Amino acid sequence: MVGGGGRENALAWALARSSGVERVWVTPGNGGTADLAGCSQLSIAETDGDGLLAVCRAEAIDLVVVGPEAPLAAGLADRLRAAGVPVFGPGADGARLEASKHWAKELMREAGVATAGYWPASSAAEALAVLEAQGRPLVVKADGLAAGKGVTVAETVEEARSAIEAIFAGQGGTAADAALVLEERTHGPEVSVFALCDGERLVLLPPAQDHKRIGEGDTGPNTGGMGAYAPAPLLDSAGLEEVRRQVLEPTLAAMRARGIDYRGVIYAGLMLTPNGPSVIEFNCRFGDPECETLMPLLGPELAQVLLACANGRLDTAPPLTIQPGCSACVIVAAAGYPGPVRSGDLITCPLLPGENLQPFHAGTRRDGDGSCRSSGGRVLAMVAQAGDFDTAFERAYAALQEVHFAGMSYRRDIGHQVRSR
Ligand code: AMP
Ligand code: GLY
Repeated sequence: MVGGGGRENALAWALARSSGVERVWVTPGNGGTADLAGCSQLSIAETDGDGLLAVCRAEAIDLVVVGPEAPLAAGLADRLRAAGVPVFGPGADGARLEASKHWAKELMREAGVATAGYWPASSAAEALAVLEAQGRPLVVKADGLAAGKGVTVAETVEEARSAIEAIFAGQGGTAADAALVLEERTHGPEVSVFALCDGERLVLLPPAQDHKRIGEGDTGPNTGGMGAYAPAPLLDSAGLEEVRRQVLEPTLAAMRARGIDYRGVIYAGLMLTPNGPSVIEFNCRFGDPECETLMPLLGPELAQVLLACANGRLDTAPPLTIQPGCSACVIVAAAGYPGPVRSGDLITCPLLPGENLQPFHAGTRRDGDGSCRSSGGRVLAMVAQAGDFDTAFERAYAALQEVHFAGMSYRRDIGHQVRSR
């Protein structure tokens, strides 16, 4: 398991519980991954292909799962696959789905997938001319990986103009670095859908609802995600099938037509418009905190399913069982998030992951003396399951009473759409 956030902590936990798994090596992990039953921690950086390959050989690793987008976009999966190691995660070619908004938009157009109208631009002048001609606020998106910070949903033309200028001012000046996409603004509730792909076939996970804003009532700046729940009732099984047929299958087929053998997750960030689901963005990895929310709902076949994806043979995998019930996730953030945060605060969290409650670590680290300290913006993901959302959220919020560190904060209204109390 490559990565060190809450997503990777949850994946490592789920893989270690899967049938047929002897041991999960997590690198670089975080303050929680060493405590997970069946897991061991390494300290190899997620972009260190040589170091990872050496461990794969020394430990006879059967499957590498890559969590974050950056090593995928940098070609880590290609490197390991070329050396014969099965990898769940696309190569650099497929990771362009997330790493280039313009490329993803063109692929969607080619595949006939619904998405907002767009105009690519490689200079400020070009972008400003489009804005001028349209005469209304457009959504401004930096083309490359921006860790969730590259998008401005402008309310006014002036705000869109400032966002365009900021993108070009902040870049080194080369056109490729500074490319952006202007988009038509669409409206509707958002939902995240994840497909596990083997290059040709795919398996869908239950839809999840993220809460991107820092503040209660969905206000304030965007974050990586402050909480989530699944299955999101916004998309029932018929809606999910529509997404499979109209979005995911055509996207995977269009990649195949370009010679891309996509073995990993396609994460579709969708907006449910009056005209049907429209793709806001694709990512080449699991969402965080959607992953933490979903993992406890997945059956013990997970490791076999991911291995089958890595081998291009999803047809040979057992069906992935999905537990009935509701999963709730509340993120605990450090003081200052989503701006610059203070690190190093001592954390007390006496809970260990078990049935129906998983306190997954995110930005945490261990000191030499074994104490756990904050080391990032999103520090913990408290995840709980129950037969209904009210009980699941009550369980997560009750467990948060046992977590303490200076400056910690969390939203009390996660899941407001599905809670009655
Ligand atoms: P991203 O950083 O790509 O996840 O985008 C951040 C957020 O911007 C999305 O979750 C949407 O809420 C919003 N957004 C992106 N594109 C559009 C669009 N075309 N119309 C309306 N909102 C958008
Ligand atoms: N939770 C949104 C993301 O992972 O991009």
